[in-house]
Amino acid sequence: MSLKKAEYFADREFPIGEVDDKVFSSFTEHLGRCIYSGLYEPGHPEADEQGFRKDTIKLVRELGIPLVRYPGGNFVSCFDWTDSIGPKKNRPKRMDYAWASVETNEFGLDEFVDWCRKAGCEPMMAVNLGTDSIRSAGYLVEYCNHPGGTYWSDLRIKNGHKEPYHIKYWCLGNEMEGPWQAGHLDAEDYAKKALEAAKIMRWVDPTIRLIASGSSYEMLPSYLEWDRKILLELYDSIDYLSTHAYYMNKNNSVGTTNFLASYKQLDTHLRGTQSALDFVQAKLRKKKTIQICLDEWNVWNFSDIVLDNMDDLAGMTTFKMTSAQPWEIAPSILEEKYSLLDALTLGGLSITLLKHSDRVKIACLAQLVNVIAPITTKRNGGILKQSTYYPFLLISKYARGIVVKSVVRAPEYESMYGRLPVVEAVTVHNEKENMVTIFALNCDQQEDVEFHAELGHFGKIALKQHIVLDGSDLSACNTFQHPDRVVPREVKIGAGEAKGLRTMLPKLSWNVLRYSTEKK
Ligand code: AHR
Repeated sequence: MSLKKAEYFADREFPIGEVDDKVFSSFTEHLGRCIYSGLYEPGHPEADEQGFRKDTIKLVRELGIPLVRYPGGNFVSCFDWTDSIGPKKNRPKRMDYAWASVETNEFGLDEFVDWCRKAGCEPMMAVNLGTDSIRSAGYLVEYCNHPGGTYWSDLRIKNGHKEPYHIKYWCLGNEMEGPWQAGHLDAEDYAKKALEAAKIMRWVDPTIRLIASGSSYEMLPSYLEWDRKILLELYDSIDYLSTHAYYMNKNNSVGTTNFLASYKQLDTHLRGTQSALDFVQAKLRKKKTIQICLDEWNVWNFSDIVLDNMDDLAGMTTFKMTSAQPWEIAPSILEEKYSLLDALTLGGLSITLLKHSDRVKIACLAQLVNVIAPITTKRNGGILKQSTYYPFLLISKYARGIVVKSVVRAPEYESMYGRLPVVEAVTVHNEKENMVTIFALNCDQQEDVEFHAELGHFGKIALKQHIVLDGSDLSACNTFQHPDRVVPREVKIGAGEAKGLRTMLPKLSWNVLRYSTEKK
């Protein structure tokens, strides 16, 4: 039987765009156990003097996360940030309507900024444009970024933070298109509110960068039309347009093949967002280009949400939980257990993300810990790297540089997105280190594929490292008892392969191929 072959061409002379470090960002929401017992657990053996879990911080540092979005998500649209500052004993317990939980406010804005400093990342804040006012958004920027001498900035100083936080990235609300969002608006009303909020926020601090809440859910009738409408009003006032993308295979609803092919749907999704941006830029005859902020992306199987597929979101006015009683404090909800298949799918999505490096300049894996996350912690217990931790770690480590154009010629498979080549790949050139890295997903479920790389204009190349994520059981998950069921492995590079151009991609595998190149 002859081997399946994939021919892959990538050329140094055809750059797509530089990978922005901020595409390796993440997201923490006051939701379930993300904050409480994820980031913060006073009394835990790993807790520092502020109650921050040092084991979580260690992994966040290992992942090299530059920016963390906070405090939501749907949560932000019910949140009064002033509840979360000042002496802890005075902070109110509130009903969080978004997730039907009780928020103690024990961990708040100042704690989050302190946590970010310790974890080596920058905070990215979302303001509540659902149930709160534009004035409150201005006050929040003043509290965070104004040096002092005014009510809110002096309050920050009184709360122990003399230096302003200089928070640069601000989201103007969250998923405001969705009927499930508290204070959901139609596009016209959102545009008016966001415009006025942006005006005030920039008056307080003209250096901030603003992200408008774009459309995310393809099943909503407003999809993309929302973007067109809001961009026509907001074009001069914003720097990024946000979109979210989650992919699910709940109870195998789409099946292995289609789930793995989610990278194709993310590509369509990002093209859609970009088309709306390009349309409005052209229509308004603007020089300025607005970038895409994919500030929530992940695989999410909705394990404990009463929904069978994303389409059902259209009629929803709330996220219904099954695993928690209403009004618990930090309930264990949305605690997805990620399998090898989920990790491969996430690896595929990351290839698409990188291919859009010319326009996607911020991306936040949603979320960071416990809630649909690559990291799981136990209350008063240990910490676990889920299967999805590894592809995220590897792109964050090695996808630094310029993405170049590439083409693949390979046998095809049938998916719900049409016929696709069995190998999906992207190439990143790190000029400083004279390295080229190819990330390649082999979707073939039966056979290994021989991968031929033609790397134009890189000079003499040599394969230095081949890392593979694969396994015999697609449903395998890492657990506290068996934390290493799904981990990447290093492949021994054969003498022939070291020359660089021919290597085997095991069936159903996500691969990192690292080549040294000649200096130019
Ligand atoms: O990340 C979980 C939720 O997904 C967020 O709160 C919301 O923005 C999205 O729908």
